[in-house]
Amino acid sequence: MTKILVTGAAGMIGSHLTEILLNRDYKVLGLDNLLVGQSKNLPSHKNFKFINGSVLDHVLVQNLIKQVDIIVHLATLKKGSNLLESRTTLRMISQSADILMNEAFNLKKRFVLASTSDVYGYGTSFPFVETDPVSLGPFNTRRWAYASAKLYSEQLAFDYAKDGLDVRIIRYFGGFSERSCLGWQGGHVPIFLNKILKKEPIDIHGDGKQTRCVTYGEDLAYGTYLAMIKDGISGELFNIGGNEEISVNDTAFRIAELAGFKKPILNHINPDKIFGNYNEISRRLPCLKKSKKLLGYEPQWNFDKGIKKMIESHRKLI
Ligand SMILES: NC(=O)c1ccc[n+]([C@@H]2O[C@H](COP(=O)([O-])OP(=O)(O)OC[C@H]3O[C@@H](n4cnc5c(N)ncnc54)[C@H](O)[C@@H]3O)[C@@H](O)[C@H]2O)c1
Repeated sequence: MTKILVTGAAGMIGSHLTEILLNRDYKVLGLDNLLVGQSKNLPSHKNFKFINGSVLDHVLVQNLIKQVDIIVHLATLKKGSNLLESRTTLRMISQSADILMNEAFNLKKRFVLASTSDVYGYGTSFPFVETDPVSLGPFNTRRWAYASAKLYSEQLAFDYAKDGLDVRIIRYFGGFSERSCLGWQGGHVPIFLNKILKKEPIDIHGDGKQTRCVTYGEDLAYGTYLAMIKDGISGELFNIGGNEEISVNDTAFRIAELAGFKKPILNHINPDKIFGNYNEISRRLPCLKKSKKLLGYEPQWNFDKGIKKMIESHRKLI
């Protein structure tokens, strides 16, 4: 029985991936410190073992990697509790990549690394292709800490790949599910739904005309699974996400409509006030040709279907 270590198993993608793996008779060790993820996302299954611990605990990680065949590294911290501070994000992402990839390299284990579409930054050619140059904004914008740390992890992966680590990298475009956290890290969709169900106004960064391609979390997890099982793709990087382009304003209106609520009030706020020296990225559209060709990936959930699933789960909580 193939054994997988999923870091961030209590998180949104990690919990969907764990479910996919258990349904296919894998044995899963799920590592999470529950800082953001929720224990209710964790399955109760004979082939699943949960470890409440940190990916920064070198001894623990070494011991877990010895027990598995493949590592899927999803654990992340987008922002610490202090939104004005980036050190925690930079350290968590870069140090965990260092520790986990070094162990996987030494023990010759396959590795799947989670990166983000954030690294495309202000790219101007659409859709974003994996080989596009990255174009982050000014150096003194805190918003780039997350993308910079993910880029560091990607570079580390490419470097290990040239020396034989069997690693594949995924740049996820946004996702959501009833398992997303409702705070900043969960992305705009869960935050909007929560506000709509509570009949509260929604803060929108910028004019809200910027578009995103968000998809239901199961699609992102399934893409991860496909990248995990494929042989002969070491050092390759894949876009995984949805392909329905929707503006942020329309996202809020569509969620409200699907939930049977009136149009929410939108408060447009200047993102400069939060991140300093930052303009919202106008479009984030993935080219999925490579992931379709090499992995057979295609999103299965459309936006409305995913939102309806999420709404039903959240309604029960209100
Ligand atoms: N969901 C998206 O829209 C999206 C978009 C781009 C990239 N990604 C990437 O995909 C991966 C998974 O994203 P997600 O949406 O499931 O995130 P998530 O926040 O739902 O899950 C991340 C998990 O990591 C855990 N974690 C944080 N610090 C940890 C530590 N030190 N040790 C152990 N666990 C720790 C959290 O508790 C959480 O459960 C991340 O690497 C993220 O950067 C996600």
